[in-house]
Amino acid sequence: MKLVKTRQELADIVTQWHREGETIGVVPTMGSLHNGHLALIKALDGKATRRIVTIFVNPIQFNNPDDFHLYPRGLDADAAILTETGMVDVLYAPDETQIYPPGFSTRVIVSGLDAMLCGADRPGHFDGVATIVTKLFMQTRADIAAFGEKDFQQLSIIRRMVQDLDLPTTILPVPTVREADQLALSSRNKRLTAAQRARAAHLPASLLTCLAELKAGKNTDACLQTCREELEEAGFTVHYLDLRSGTSLQVAQPSDPAARLFVAASLGDVRLIDNMPLS
Ligand code: PAJ
Repeated sequence: MKLVKTRQELADIVTQWHREGETIGVVPTMGSLHNGHLALIKALDGKATRRIVTIFVNPIQFNNPDDFHLYPRGLDADAAILTETGMVDVLYAPDETQIYPPGFSTRVIVSGLDAMLCGADRPGHFDGVATIVTKLFMQTRADIAAFGEKDFQQLSIIRRMVQDLDLPTTILPVPTVREADQLALSSRNKRLTAAQRARAAHLPASLLTCLAELKAGKNTDACLQTCREELEEAGFTVHYLDLRSGTSLQVAQPSDPAARLFVAASLGDVRLIDNMPLS
């Protein structure tokens, strides 16, 4: 695996690959890698002949400067994990000058989908995501790129953006990877204290209970209310808990075959998100 830090060096490699007829698969990340990220790399098996993982902690998608500064970083450890997989050709880890040179002033905004769920209390977050993902697609010349369903709204926004802008990149969705107690893997989990980590398991457990009740035909509002109370009793601050369509992200009825439960809830200052399909 080659560690590449500049746009120019990356351009030389990907131009050569395209000339040779290779298919370039990309996994954009912010590092602090875990098995969720590795599942995305694996998902490109048979779909790409070359694989690039990008690591860039993107300042413009953090609306809280503390969150940006506290975001876990460790390039050497991440590089070692990627080398170990034997699946990655290039690790692209640019610094900010390679991505946002002085004078940079463009934003990609996916209107509508960015205002609900996480967009409501993270203004500008998805503009930052859409902008960096567009840039990474261009710089890597990605033919295919994998994204986790864990960040379902992000995945929906990127799909919309690719369609709207005619970007030549296929989006590959990958199911959420979970711990034994069903907590979705996340780089943020490292910021939980041992006591918070134990309580965090209430998040997936409450969602699963709520889904079972919805499937049994119980009233949606009542199920959501009970679920919210369970989470609050377990010490969470609930930002949203909604049944929405996985296609439009609009509020959905249980009869909608694309219905999913979406939640964002914090333990202390650690904000966790999750989502699960009803069927
Ligand atoms: P990051 O949080 O590092 O996540 C990178 C990718 O890994 C995303 O596609 C995310 O959905 C996926 N992922 C994270 N946890 C996962 C899990 N438990 N199971 C499956 N996939 C998982 O998401 C970002 O970075 C950034 O917003 C980025 C897209 C890189 C733009 O900066």
